[in-house]
Amino acid sequence: MVEKIILPLFLLLTVIYLQCMAHKGNIVDMSMDNADNNTGVAVNCGKVDILLSWTPKELSPSGEVKIKLSYIVPFSIDGGFFNASLYFHGDDSPFLGYADNFDCDTMKQYGIQCPIKKGLRFTFTKAISNLHVLTSYPGYYDAIVQVWNSQNDEMFCVNLTLKVLEVYNGPDGY
Ligand SMILES: *[C@@H]1O[C@H](CO)[C@@H](O)[C@H](O)[C@H]1NC(C)=O
Ligand SMILES: *[C@@H]1O[C@H](CO)[C@@H](O)[C@H](O)[C@H]1NC(C)=O
Ligand SMILES: *[C@@H]1O[C@H](CO)[C@@H](O)[C@H](O)[C@H]1NC(C)=O
Repeated sequence: MVEKIILPLFLLLTVIYLQCMAHKGNIVDMSMDNADNNTGVAVNCGKVDILLSWTPKELSPSGEVKIKLSYIVPFSIDGGFFNASLYFHGDDSPFLGYADNFDCDTMKQYGIQCPIKKGLRFTFTKAISNLHVLTSYPGYYDAIVQVWNSQNDEMFCVNLTLKVLEVYNGPDGY
């Protein structure tokens, strides 16, 4: 039951990642936000440098989020494997895991070029304005996403600590 409920959160994460990967045209400044209290930062859990941050830190289903990514593709990729685990913040064991293979066709379906050559640099900010999918899942989560190419090279591993705020649907509609 819980698994069914949380799936959309995973889908949202996946969409964020795929949009990040797909989005090359809109290059903005390369500096990351200075640490402030309203910016969330992903922890790199692998060997590959990846800088990922988002503002605001706490996600409101009725608001939007601005994501910053800076990443240099460490190995060529034309398919591979990814897995993701979702934890309640600080727990040792995930309550949900998802893993799958993908190939060039999958990447192209999401508008991602294929193959992606080693050394390509992604640096951009992107606003995602529709977070309604999160409405039913207020809470505090750690999400770990790992991606490998088909030669088993690690592309990245990130640990995102996400807080999803509750939406109040009072009589005033607030
Ligand atoms: C972040 O919050 C702490 C504690 O409330 C405060 O001392 C600090 O000045 C804040 N930092 C920024 C950059 O706003
Ligand atoms: C992904 O799979 C690897 C190998 O089975 C495992 O060691 C790792 O913990 C998994 N990561 C996630 C985020 O589920
Ligand atoms: C992910 O990061 C959070 C916050 O830094 C940490 O509490 C948690 O233990 C990390 N999870 C894993 C599986 O490393």
